Amino acid sequence: MRKIVFINLFLFSLFLSIAQRTHPTIKEESKVPKYILPELLKSDNGKKINNQIEWERIRRPEILEHFSNEMYGIVPANSLSPEVRILEEATIALNSKAIRKQIQLIFRNKIDSISLNILIYTPNKNFKVPAFFGYNFAGNHLIHKDPSILIDGKTEDQLSRHSKEYFNQKKRGERTSRWSIEKIIESGYGIITLNYNDVDPDRNDFSDGVHSLLYNINQTRPEAHQWGSISAWAWGMSRVLDYLETDELIDAKKVVLFGHSRLGKTSLWAGALDQRFCIVISNNSGCGGAALSRRRFGEKVSDITTNWSHWFAKNFKKYSEKESLLPIDQHMLIALMAPRPVYVASASKDSWADPKGEFLSAKEASTVYQLYGLQGLEDEEYPKVNTPIHKKIGYHLRDGKHDVTEYDWRQYIKFANKLLGVKNGNSNSKETWYCYPT
Ligand code: GCU
Repeated sequence: MRKIVFINLFLFSLFLSIAQRTHPTIKEESKVPKYILPELLKSDNGKKINNQIEWERIRRPEILEHFSNEMYGIVPANSLSPEVRILEEATIALNSKAIRKQIQLIFRNKIDSISLNILIYTPNKNFKVPAFFGYNFAGNHLIHKDPSILIDGKTEDQLSRHSKEYFNQKKRGERTSRWSIEKIIESGYGIITLNYNDVDPDRNDFSDGVHSLLYNINQTRPEAHQWGSISAWAWGMSRVLDYLETDELIDAKKVVLFGHSRLGKTSLWAGALDQRFCIVISNNSGCGGAALSRRRFGEKVSDITTNWSHWFAKNFKKYSEKESLLPIDQHMLIALMAPRPVYVASASKDSWADPKGEFLSAKEASTVYQLYGLQGLEDEEYPKVNTPIHKKIGYHLRDGKHDVTEYDWRQYIKFANKLLGVKNGNSNSKETWYCYPT
């Protein structure tokens, strides 16, 4: 058995190294091929898009459909309504600065179920607050040392032996550096998080997670145009927002979606699908996220569809080494947020995610913001490190590696303050602020 695994691994690495030799990773700007981006303001049948109405009625739906069919995969229309359980609530948390709430959403079909275990902190205030919402990678208890954070929805005593072993490897508070919880709370925002694996475990297996709950009879995996894991995680974000609309402490009209890396790809796609999200932030999302695929810089479509095929619809593989055939590119994904504010953040040493390609994509998307009379990055050049730009589209290139840091959070809070009218931590603004015109 071991021998077979070894031989398979050997063949796989051989395949990768041959593939890499034929199509080496581009690490220098001078090696970026010439490319032409698909036009944002021209419909598939060549009609020029002149205004917001034509964008919303003609072009936006076309682009959304292409991303759905060809890249992330369509989310099934049939839905499930969850059982909502309040697992824990404390009016005094984080040195009395916050209120903590832990909620479980259980989605069932006749055979199986999934549980989404959500952790919410809000400032200790008696009105609804705007909030940042993002998935975490490995469990709510990693984001802060708070001993009351449940693990997989359970107290430490309730954990099975298996989960305890797992928990020993994933220690409480280990990921604190990626979550500026205190700063977020002090700034007047709530924070909402859950483990993305609750919605769909991040492995190439379509028999589990929400996919399995929504299959048609006898279906065992999504069809070529149907949802991969990124679409499943995006689905989960919308279901959490459904819940937040009923929560008495969160202003669900001011939920700022956040995601890092694969979860940055997810936040962009979730924000495109669900226009109730008010601001969307992509942190180092790279290939399949904010970065332009046609630049082929760093990670390419062929890399991502080989190593992480389950994130996408099967159809996406067709474009491996054939990016020019894609009916879309990632500037169009960012444009799907318009007119809502969107923030793209890169890191200078994250060449795998193509920082410049992320910037150019956000800049290109500005054309659609201009239709709404809003300023994006149209007049901006690729900025120096640590010089953020906060227009209706935000961008920064942080000095450093692929990560989420306190610097990033400071920018996101500033950006949200500016665009949501939050001042000195006071989010109880009288003006009614709509991210999306109703
Ligand atoms: C890999 C993958 C990236 C992804 C990253 C992550 O590096 O190639 O596309 O963004 O993992 O999510 O951590």
